[in-house]
Amino acid sequence: MPAELAIGIHDLSVATTQYVLTHATLAAHNGSDVAKYQRGIGQRSMSVPAADEDIVTMAAAAAAPIVARHGAERIRTVVFATESSVDQAKAAGIHVHSLLGLPSATRVVELKQACYSGTAALQFAIGLVHRDRTEQVLVIASDVSKYDLGSPGEATQGAAAVAMLISADPALVRIEDPSGMFTADIMDFWRPNYRNTALVDGRESISAYLQAVEGTWKDYTERGGHKLDELSAFCYHQPFTKMAYKAHRHLLNYCGYEVDEARINGAIANTTAYNEVIGNSYTASVYLALAALLDTAGDLSGKAIGFLSYGSGSVAEFFAGTVVPGYRAHLRADAHREAIDRREDIDYARYREIHTHAFPVDGGDYPVPRETTGPYRLAGLSGHKRIYEPR
Ligand code: CAA
Repeated sequence: MPAELAIGIHDLSVATTQYVLTHATLAAHNGSDVAKYQRGIGQRSMSVPAADEDIVTMAAAAAAPIVARHGAERIRTVVFATESSVDQAKAAGIHVHSLLGLPSATRVVELKQACYSGTAALQFAIGLVHRDRTEQVLVIASDVSKYDLGSPGEATQGAAAVAMLISADPALVRIEDPSGMFTADIMDFWRPNYRNTALVDGRESISAYLQAVEGTWKDYTERGGHKLDELSAFCYHQPFTKMAYKAHRHLLNYCGYEVDEARINGAIANTTAYNEVIGNSYTASVYLALAALLDTAGDLSGKAIGFLSYGSGSVAEFFAGTVVPGYRAHLRADAHREAIDRREDIDYARYREIHTHAFPVDGGDYPVPRETTGPYRLAGLSGHKRIYEPR
């Protein structure tokens, strides 16, 4: 597509939580060798939401700087991607719409398909901008990943939101055709409506992910996508950062390349800096990989990047984007680093208290203590309604 007709990511902003639990603290509690976490799965710490934080407060915190920079006049649609939704009916994006004071002439919707739906949101947004190039779409991927205490998944929890402004003539990344798609009916990871922690078959989930890498790549190349060598870096969904290395090794094997660790490092190493300290942020994870790549790598102007978005269950998509020359002037690297560095370390006892907290379900008034130092907070529950406010 000629550059002047391009559509893609015009701005990107990351937010995470008030607290952080290190894997050293988790290992000291459960007797694991910390190397299993730091080297084995490639994780150093995980974001933990305060009592007055959730997917809405993180989403609003991520999106507010975008609205402040570009205004809201052209945003006609907000698509909120999540698998840790706060309501079965109302879209979480409506709370964000209200907190940010967006115009009433806006369409707001929530999308779900495990960790994949951020990419569905991006592709739907591109379709809307194709229809009217003057419109912009605010895509927000926000999730809190939660597994049972003491389960193998516990070390892969985390929480973050990534907000992206999708528009014509984007400043950061032009998203290209084609996409490679893959769907398979697999129960590798799921969360029934009556549970607030996910269920997972860990080993099955890893092989399902690798099967999806093959399936998407096959469809992508059959539709005329880039050759592997034409892609400078690969942003994979990162439930834990070692998964990106496993996936890329698998892709190289599948394409008949010698497995060369230096080549794998070159493709992946710049994409993991945020995920390894934030943990799994489900829908946001692949776009946190992009944020880390853009913020920390050398000049990528004009380079093509591959994206592999995987959502258990499973749906996956492989697509590519080209980094726009001049993109570095539009990055938010300092704010992203600040959002990560300002988190307060918590000990295991505090983490456990937060993990086991659940609101009563009787519809009473339950104000939430002030904990977050972020811009928005969950003030409480009243009459079964969540009340949000600027802090
Ligand atoms: N030093 C260095 N490495 C060590 C070590 C040590 N002391 N001890 C173990 N390791 C290595 C192991 O060799 C292993 O590496 P390989 O996989 O490369 O062999 C790694 O550390 C993990 O060890 P285990 O497999 O023994 O760990 P585990 O059984 O406790 O669980 C897990 C690992 C299955 C990933 C688990 O954390 C889990 O279930 N996580 C949730 C599911 C998940 O993230 N799945 C990913 C694909 S699904 C997806 O992507 C969607 C999503 O977001 C959920």
